[in-house]
Amino acid sequence: MTPHWDSLWTNVRLATMDPEIDSGYGTIEDGALAISNGRIAWLGPANERPDITPDQQHDGQGGWITPGLIDCHTHLVFAGNRCHEFALRQQGASYQQIAEQGGGIRGTVQATRASSEQQLFERASQHLQPFLDEGVTSIEIKSGYGLETETELRMLRVARRLAQERPITVHTSFLGAHALPEEFEGRADAYIDHVCAEMMTAVAAEELADSVDMFCERIGFSLAQCERVIQSANQYGLPIRIHAEQLSNLRASHLAADHHALSVDHLEHLDESGIMALARADTVATLLPGAFYFLRETQLPPIELLRRHGVKMAVGSDFNPGSSPQASLRLSMQMAANLFGLSPQEVLAGVTRNAAQALGLNQQIGQLRRGLQADLLLWEIDDPAELVWHYGLHRPRQIIKEGQDVSGR
Ligand code: NIG
Ligand code: FE
Repeated sequence: MTPHWDSLWTNVRLATMDPEIDSGYGTIEDGALAISNGRIAWLGPANERPDITPDQQHDGQGGWITPGLIDCHTHLVFAGNRCHEFALRQQGASYQQIAEQGGGIRGTVQATRASSEQQLFERASQHLQPFLDEGVTSIEIKSGYGLETETELRMLRVARRLAQERPITVHTSFLGAHALPEEFEGRADAYIDHVCAEMMTAVAAEELADSVDMFCERIGFSLAQCERVIQSANQYGLPIRIHAEQLSNLRASHLAADHHALSVDHLEHLDESGIMALARADTVATLLPGAFYFLRETQLPPIELLRRHGVKMAVGSDFNPGSSPQASLRLSMQMAANLFGLSPQEVLAGVTRNAAQALGLNQQIGQLRRGLQADLLLWEIDDPAELVWHYGLHRPRQIIKEGQDVSGR
């Protein structure tokens, strides 16, 4: 059977992010890329292109093609706002103090519980649009502002519906163990029982979660409580991820590594023994510079040690109303370079290949590679580093999602 191509791009440079090509952008100068049935059918140097006439041919005019961007950590579905909390922080209150006084996450929980599924969907669609516009083609979305079964289910259904109605792949995470709801005050263990038994059972029955997340922190849950959540996730065959070592070091990274977590996220207080555990388990370290910036943290995540031990680093926006109210992965990319010292190559790997691994989707997305989903972006730039250097300047000229041109949607 003669191979058939739906579309072909020529006169392009490819940042494949394929580590087998090189350890930087996986560059192919003067390249070409063909798509068939929503997948990458061929890519390589233009002069090696097989003689196949595509249905559609595009002249890339010397621009760059990158994989679609992947935001592997967001809390995109929520209601209400936390402006008053921002004002309190301006007057000197810390994120932890506000949480301890019953504000913070609990404030968003109240507003989210009071919203219908349709209201949450409309708000989440608004939150999603800027990510789509800047070239995000896959996103992780957590629950965690319901903290009771019905609202957690509503949040996850909204996330699933976004995937159906918008041009984006959505990975959902059940984050029942995000904070202790008011009605369980003083009874954290009982709440964890509830998360593991009733809530997770309901979530699993509707197949609403692709992974299970938890907040291992003094203002969240203890190591022992998180371990129970993990055991329950194991029973449902759900992979895990952990909000770890954000405000202090509880050794959550060791727990994560012991259970082969997909990712550990935040990590400002991570130490070398935790890093070695992550390296052994090949758990991705997800950096969230937006939260570091917004909470005016001073403790930097141990980037040089992560590098030295070969831990894969991803970069996420952590978009949420409390610690990272920025609906932009591109801004997070610049922050990862400017605040954390990642190289442009590391940043781009952090929002493509490594972010895909953090979602357990590295066999589908995250690189330009034959057979992978055709999620790609065409940029009018001379160097991929421009995507990290500039913020607010470049929008993709074309956004291709599973082979379809979805630019402007
Ligand atoms: O990733 N650390 C816990 N969760 C979120 C913040 C949630 C909130 O404050 O609403 C985070 O920073
Ligand atoms: Fe988070």
